[in-house]
Amino acid sequence: MTQTANVREFNVEPELDSKTIHAIPPCVVHDTPVLNVLDESVHYGDWRDDLARDGYCVVKGVLEKEKALKYADDIKDWLEGFGLGYKRDDPSTIREECLPIIHQKGLLQAYGATHESFTWGVRSEPAVIDAFAHLYQDPDLICSFDAVNVSLANRQDLPANGAWPHQDQDPERGGLRCVQGFVNLLPNGPEDGGLLVLKGGHKVSEEYHNVFRNEPRDFRWTNEMYLFKETGLKWLADRGHEWVKVDAEPGDLVLWDSRTPHYNASPKKNTDRFVVYVCMLPVSTATQEDLIRKKELFEEQHGHSHWPMALQPFIKAFLEPQRNGKPDPHNTWKPRQPPQLSERGYKLTGIPYIKA
Ligand SMILES: [Fe+2]
Repeated sequence: MTQTANVREFNVEPELDSKTIHAIPPCVVHDTPVLNVLDESVHYGDWRDDLARDGYCVVKGVLEKEKALKYADDIKDWLEGFGLGYKRDDPSTIREECLPIIHQKGLLQAYGATHESFTWGVRSEPAVIDAFAHLYQDPDLICSFDAVNVSLANRQDLPANGAWPHQDQDPERGGLRCVQGFVNLLPNGPEDGGLLVLKGGHKVSEEYHNVFRNEPRDFRWTNEMYLFKETGLKWLADRGHEWVKVDAEPGDLVLWDSRTPHYNASPKKNTDRFVVYVCMLPVSTATQEDLIRKKELFEEQHGHSHWPMALQPFIKAFLEPQRNGKPDPHNTWKPRQPPQLSERGYKLTGIPYIKA
């Protein structure tokens, strides 16, 4: 169930002082409805209580452990299949020459990863779809065509990922508008890198952005993102909000409110981190134009950010992996095979909801 965006008192007229000029990001997108689905005063008796209170939650065992590990094996097959030399049992091959190009944040948005068999397999798992349908109390959903995260342990040739606290929602558009997530595929404990969240940070998001509205903002590729600075992080810490490393088992679904400050850290020990990002919203949050754009992206096997209504198609000029200073010839932007979707998986593309 959704409601239209008419409840953002904090967003009626942003009060910028006359000296403030924020650079306009290259990708500015239309507004989306505030979701009327989580109320902290309600006792749901499940993980929605955690999500409403803390701004994140772990939905345990959405996939059986064996199934999650099989998806992780599929990703290793895929990495080996590039023929560059990576072998899952040979640590000397965990380096750039032997792998597709993966930067230190672990995000793989090129190489067709968005539409690979394992990515669509995870998105289409009935239990994953059911979790989002439960959250929104709505069976008609669309899903993001987003990335996977392949953070290999013991990468000697990459610096550790520094903290990059951000929220994936426009600071001028408050309220709960999106719940992001990933399905975790490998054991992920305190030393294994992964997601850090600022617990409860979603609840002060609107107040925060009113306070920091006039602070200069760093470059961001889209308006639906905000990067926190030391000043803002101190403000949040002074209000008692703490960073939490989210641990998860293979098959757990991790969800967070897009207002919750978060970032990911590199593995510190010997366990790889593999996740498939999954974000779903009711199809009613998308316009027909959104769905038509999403159809075109699906047919081109192109990706977009976590916003399921395809607000932000990936910009190849930003994402093109470079090998020895040139575009990597191993990146065709296509999966090995066009995706084969179940009927339920196909509905997530939004195509069946396009009116003739
Ligand atoms: Fe993010």
